[in-house]
Amino acid sequence: MQSAVSIKDLKIAYGDHSVIEKMSIDIAPREFLVLLGPSGCGKSTLLNAIAGLQDITAGEIWISGKNVSWEEPKDRGIGMVFQSYALYPRMSVRKNLSFGLRVAGLPKTEIEARVARTAALLHLDKLLDRRPAELSGGQRQRVAIGRALVREVDVFLFDEPLSNLDAKLRNELRVEIKKLHQNLGNTMIYVTHDQVEALTLADRIAIMRDGVIQQLASPAEIYHRPANLFVAGFIGAPAMNFIEGRIERGNGSPVFLSNGLAVDLSGYSFQAASDGPATLGFRPDHLVLDGAASRLPTIPGHVSVVEPMGSEAVLWFDWAGQSLSLRLMGEVTLQPGDTVAPGVDIAKASLFGADGSRL
Ligand SMILES: Nc1ncnc2c1ncn2[C@@H]1O[C@H](COP(=O)(O)OP(=O)(O)OP(=O)(O)O)[C@@H](O)[C@H]1O
Ligand SMILES: [Mg+2]
Repeated sequence: MQSAVSIKDLKIAYGDHSVIEKMSIDIAPREFLVLLGPSGCGKSTLLNAIAGLQDITAGEIWISGKNVSWEEPKDRGIGMVFQSYALYPRMSVRKNLSFGLRVAGLPKTEIEARVARTAALLHLDKLLDRRPAELSGGQRQRVAIGRALVREVDVFLFDEPLSNLDAKLRNELRVEIKKLHQNLGNTMIYVTHDQVEALTLADRIAIMRDGVIQQLASPAEIYHRPANLFVAGFIGAPAMNFIEGRIERGNGSPVFLSNGLAVDLSGYSFQAASDGPATLGFRPDHLVLDGAASRLPTIPGHVSVVEPMGSEAVLWFDWAGQSLSLRLMGEVTLQPGDTVAPGVDIAKASLFGADGSRL
């Protein structure tokens, strides 16, 4: 199948400051790809390059089977929603939505039909005659999204469209965007540094660091089998627990050793050679409170803090001078200072070698 968007050996540099390092990605038609990474890692630069707003240093960008590397933005068949969107303050919502189409010289009836379709999709039908100043933040954001959607193209590029909104609105619009994608079936490339948005929206997530993709995989794969320490630490809240130690493989099965802890690794499926220094990573949800009862290797410690969060709670406990977290369902009666011996489910854990890559 032909890719909707194909990025081939792309390099982008500002002078001698390299921002994107030889990157290649193929994005399938109808795919929802999320670019996720810390501030400054090159997400907007990459998206702007796909849109044609940013010159590239080397490589190629293909959209719908055509090399568009040097095409004008308007000829690329994309719609874009920017990180800092600006609506035309003196124009009504209707005019804001139709502006690009009027400039492009589309027939009036076609413009009206598209504005009506887009407004209905984004629940803006009753607001078409208002000006941006007369709208809430979420409504304004929907107009900004609408301005891209009226173009009715196959590929949409979103650059942190929800970052300026409060948490409740963000959650609501996130669900709207997911529905929109399900209904329209376009290809979406969506930039965010919010891991919840990435995990909930994406078919695949590309996790970037310093212009390099660290892992490109489904949300489940990235959550359960992170490719390296950076990905493991970036995804998940509270963050994955890490314990440093070493793996020893005597005659029997391999064992992870650290500070008097000896964890049998026979339940772990290794993908790489494994002796020597290593980091054991396990998520708060992959620990059980009573390790002995579950016949799991235990990590004994003392409760330091309990954070109730409604239906669940996060329990922090100290082990060997380190603070580890454990997620519990329901109400927690434990107090700071109480002794616990949680068990770690090694089949769900991750091991990383000295260079940080997954073992
Ligand atoms: N015009 C420019 N000249 C030089 N360096 C730039 C320019 N624009 C961006 N950069 C640098 O390129 C890097 C990537 O910037 P970019 O805007 O792509 O990051 P981002 O991942 O979108 O971050 P954020 O999450 O903060 O939006 C940063 O280090 C930034 O300082
Ligand atoms: Mg950005």
